[in-house]
Amino acid sequence: MASEMAPAPMEGHGSYNKSSRIQASSAVSAVAMLEEAAKHVVLPSAPTPIVIADYGSSQGANSIRELSDAIALLRSRAALRQGIQVFHTDLPTSDYTSLFVSLATDSKSYVQPGSDIYAAAVGRSFYEQILPSRSVTLGWSSWAVQWLSRAPMAIPDQVQVAYSHDALARAAFAEQADADWRTFLRHRSNELHAGGRLVVVTMGLTAEGEFGYRPLLEALYESLRDLADSGFMDSAELHGMVIPTVGRSLASIEAPFAGGMFNGLVIEQANAFLGDDPLWAEYERDGDAGKFAHGWAAFTRASVLPTLGQGLSGGVADARYADFLDRAEAGMAARLSAKPEKMVVPLVAVVLRQMEQGER
Ligand SMILES: C[S@@+](CC[C@H](N)C(=O)[O-])C[C@H]1O[C@@H](n2cnc3c(N)ncnc32)[C@H](O)[C@@H]1O
Repeated sequence: MASEMAPAPMEGHGSYNKSSRIQASSAVSAVAMLEEAAKHVVLPSAPTPIVIADYGSSQGANSIRELSDAIALLRSRAALRQGIQVFHTDLPTSDYTSLFVSLATDSKSYVQPGSDIYAAAVGRSFYEQILPSRSVTLGWSSWAVQWLSRAPMAIPDQVQVAYSHDALARAAFAEQADADWRTFLRHRSNELHAGGRLVVVTMGLTAEGEFGYRPLLEALYESLRDLADSGFMDSAELHGMVIPTVGRSLASIEAPFAGGMFNGLVIEQANAFLGDDPLWAEYERDGDAGKFAHGWAAFTRASVLPTLGQGLSGGVADARYADFLDRAEAGMAARLSAKPEKMVVPLVAVVLRQMEQGER
């Protein structure tokens, strides 16, 4: 497997911002949990600023909207002239230009003259500590920690391990997922101050343990196989392509907390739920199979095709890279429009709190 099989950021030039309304609409109930956390979180004493961290922000359009009411709640609770500092964080190669353009131009942007609310970005993996110890008041992470730090191995019969029949691959990904979740929690726990809270919403599993998105992933894998069969890429390239994401069960989210707390963090609330398929709702209204299919293919292109494209022999610099994105997206759209099916979107959300002194 190519050593590049760590996640790539979302497709750049604002493409993720344009193709991420599925993530936004299905995170709505977790946004309500974030707002509840903003009401109750312990604030630092003025003049120490209130720090909000957004882990895996991508290009910002969803984060800006999701954070706006929580920020307004914190503003109303903060002391006069107590600044609020928001850090949007993502991988070093994420498209930060689009993030800053969204912050400057989005009508919902919290960066307004005189508001004493400031935005900055950190380009570093959330599998490391990326903000000073005991500095963060409120953390938010939406649709991001399904991405592992790396793919532990190639998957012989799929690009998504959830649909692989290979027991070795399934076990290796489960082990990596557990290790990465603990690493993520340890670093967030160091960053949160006492009484600080963190809300995480990520890809989950159904009550039956299903990852969901079956029609989408079948269409994707068949389209990639077509690209190999037609000679566009070779089979070694196909077999090196992996999406290093996992759906997390409620039990796996809670596992590090078996003793009641993990590194000073406790679970306040945890829910598994099914997100919406807004494209299916539109399809039921207008019967436009092409629109439905293009919407899901664009979601896939913006989020996972850049990672899969790294599997081409020349990686992202490969002369076929742009064509790869176009062809894989078109292949998926053709398949999905021939047989539209509602997507199952399992999610899991958890609210964590850093214990206060004297509580342990
Ligand atoms: C699907 S996007 C979610 C963006 C946004 N939070 C939303 O809800 O629409 C996932 C983001 O997580 C980022 N990501 C993946 N692995 C990461 C890591 N190890 N450290 C920081 N960000 C990571 C990706 O680059 C991507 O921008």
